[in-house]
Amino acid sequence: VEHLLGIKYLKETDIDLIFRTADHFKEVINRPIKKVPSLRDITIANLFFENSTRTKLSFELAEKRLSADVINFSAGQSSVKKGETLIDTVNNILAMKVDIVVMRHASVGAGVFLSKHVDAKIINAGDGTHEHPTQALLDSYSIREKLGNVKGKKIVIVGDVLHSRVALSNIFALQLQGAKVKVCGPTTLIPKYISSLGVEVETNLKKALEWCDVANVLRVQHERMDIKYFPSTREYTQLFGINQEILDNLDKKIVIMHPGPINRGVEITSDVADSNQSIILNQVENGVAVRMAVIYLLAQQVKR
Ligand code: CP
Repeated sequence: VEHLLGIKYLKETDIDLIFRTADHFKEVINRPIKKVPSLRDITIANLFFENSTRTKLSFELAEKRLSADVINFSAGQSSVKKGETLIDTVNNILAMKVDIVVMRHASVGAGVFLSKHVDAKIINAGDGTHEHPTQALLDSYSIREKLGNVKGKKIVIVGDVLHSRVALSNIFALQLQGAKVKVCGPTTLIPKYISSLGVEVETNLKKALEWCDVANVLRVQHERMDIKYFPSTREYTQLFGINQEILDNLDKKIVIMHPGPINRGVEITSDVADSNQSIILNQVENGVAVRMAVIYLLAQQVKR
């Protein structure tokens, strides 16, 4: 593939190649000297038009571990505030001889749009409520690391699926690798198209958790909601919040994931998020190796 715009453009063999490459980089970043000189001749711009902690820092670190030159752009402190368009912004940055653009943007399809108008490799770091492909890759990589394989595993994605780019990318990635996927949440927060993806909806949290090997718990995205959404935060927590008591009443020990940032006490309690069933910080750790792999593989196509 020419860019990483979404998981829906990948094949299973692409994911396999990314994971085998990430295995190598995971070993590299655990050495005393964590850097490799692979991308010394490559320049990467990280363009964040929406807020980020994990994705932004993880991409920057991955790029630096590969010895690329890195520039960072946050829309809030830029000439976007003076009305400059996305294409003008990116073309001005590319005029400084940038090879790869990592972009997070509030608009669905922003990465695809950019890939048709500018001459650079594009990596989608999250486009609105659509896709977050590197998050899904690091999530699957973390399941593979914890359980040995993704194929045949039962994953439930719990919560605010409607506003989640993590959910859609995870569904595509998990299905490509032969996992079984369900979603669980209030019907107001489950998009109508979900059944057309071959994903079953379970509105009973206990049943969903009894079924699964892994629960990937989503953040309730208050900033993308308006008043019409039911349930309220308190009702949501009562019906869909994951706490230790619920987990202790299951027959087996399931793996708990969350892409972050966490609303502690809303979709998940602190004791669960910080427990030994949680692989939340492993996900963050693996994000660097997975993003190194994605950047490294795309950089092989940059004309030098
Ligand atoms: N998981 C994730 O995308 O987190 P950030 O919004 O902090 O990057």
